[in-house]
Amino acid sequence: MLLSLILTAGLARAYTVTKVDFLMFKNIDPIVFPGQYVSHMHSFFGSDAVNVNTSTSAELREGCSTARNPNDFSVYWVPTLFHVNTSAPANQTHTPIKPMRFSAYYELLNEAEIPFPEDFQVVAGNASATSSSDLNSDNGITWFCEGDESEETKEKAAFPTKTCSTHLQTLLLFPDCANPETFETAYSKNPNSFPGYNENRCPDGMYRIPKLRFSIRYDLRDILPDGWDGAPPLELACGNEFCSHGDFINGWLPEAAEYMLEDPTKAEYFQIKAPLGDGDQGSACTRVAADSDPEHGTSDYAESLRMMAGKSTNASNATSPAKCKRGHHHGHGHWRH
Ligand SMILES: *[C@@H]1O[C@H](CO)[C@@H](O)[C@H](O)[C@H]1NC(C)=O
Ligand SMILES: *[C@@H]1O[C@H](CO)[C@@H](O)[C@H](O)[C@H]1NC(C)=O
Ligand SMILES: *[C@@H]1O[C@H](CO)[C@@H](O)[C@H](O)[C@H]1NC(C)=O
Ligand SMILES: *[C@@H]1O[C@H](CO)[C@@H](O)[C@H](O)[C@H]1NC(C)=O
Repeated sequence: MLLSLILTAGLARAYTVTKVDFLMFKNIDPIVFPGQYVSHMHSFFGSDAVNVNTSTSAELREGCSTARNPNDFSVYWVPTLFHVNTSAPANQTHTPIKPMRFSAYYELLNEAEIPFPEDFQVVAGNASATSSSDLNSDNGITWFCEGDESEETKEKAAFPTKTCSTHLQTLLLFPDCANPETFETAYSKNPNSFPGYNENRCPDGMYRIPKLRFSIRYDLRDILPDGWDGAPPLELACGNEFCSHGDFINGWLPEAAEYMLEDPTKAEYFQIKAPLGDGDQGSACTRVAADSDPEHGTSDYAESLRMMAGKSTNASNATSPAKCKRGHHHGHGHWRH
């Protein structure tokens, strides 16, 4: 009896995590602007097969991934964080900051009813938000100094107003309810307080999926050796810190996606063991992951602004035929490495 209580307590928080190394800065967003090089700048992590048209898990598995878990060919992206120097010459005011660590947590795994569907894609946060009132608190957007005392008066989603003793860290929570056919998503809610939610805490037609959480750390100590007091000289590609958002396209091997729900150890924290290896052993790929479409788009901030400004003149491309999500053959993908 005691043992089962302990197991239940452990299961209630079952999670796993993979670190995913930085892949590239690029002005694409295959979910929001498929086929067009008109997005604000993003920082990408994961499979280097990602390009402006990507829409399937199988495509992602053709690439080399920067995920430390060798079974993860997912792609993850967020708006690029810039150091802004208003004294610098025009075209050189924004210097992109490479995150020092990106961790993808998969949480509440014991409550998940289905693994991530093949080709599943999702966006969390509001890229046009300019204040915390534009945000849904379910997103859990938080900026803080890792390990430092939290600032009582600061809005959670605002940048810290004092120098971080180590890293600037940010969190973002993804919806944990999904319709596996339409990929509509929602954040789970207690049905006793939220009419329309079922016992699984999801709206009709939706199932619980693993709750994805991004945790990103930036080391600003070389960039801002004197720190900051008040608003830091930082900006996201989409605007101020409230526009924090994240995108995900599932590229996990199906066996690994299932292992997330079926971990035989039943431990609170566990590593995913699947056909391409265990835990954090790193990609089996023998080449270095790199942009698979280097001839198009840009990693330069000033150039990305010019390309964004050009998007209205390019309206004929606005409804790209590239995205036909439900028409794709849902074969369980293959991999080369
Ligand atoms: C994206 O799709 C378009 C339209 O099919 C194609 O012309 C283009 O080459 C594709 N781009 C990449 C990088 O695959
Ligand atoms: C900002 O740019 C100016 C002019 O290029 C430069 O002298 C200064 O060191 C820069 N400041 C920082 C904090 O990088
Ligand atoms: C910024 O760069 C573009 C293209 O490289 C150039 O045409 C433009 O003159 C530059 N602007 C300034 C102010 O240097
Ligand atoms: C996102 O932010 C925009 C800009 O302020 C706002 O108009 C919109 O309602 C927000 N969207 C959501 C879903 O809250």
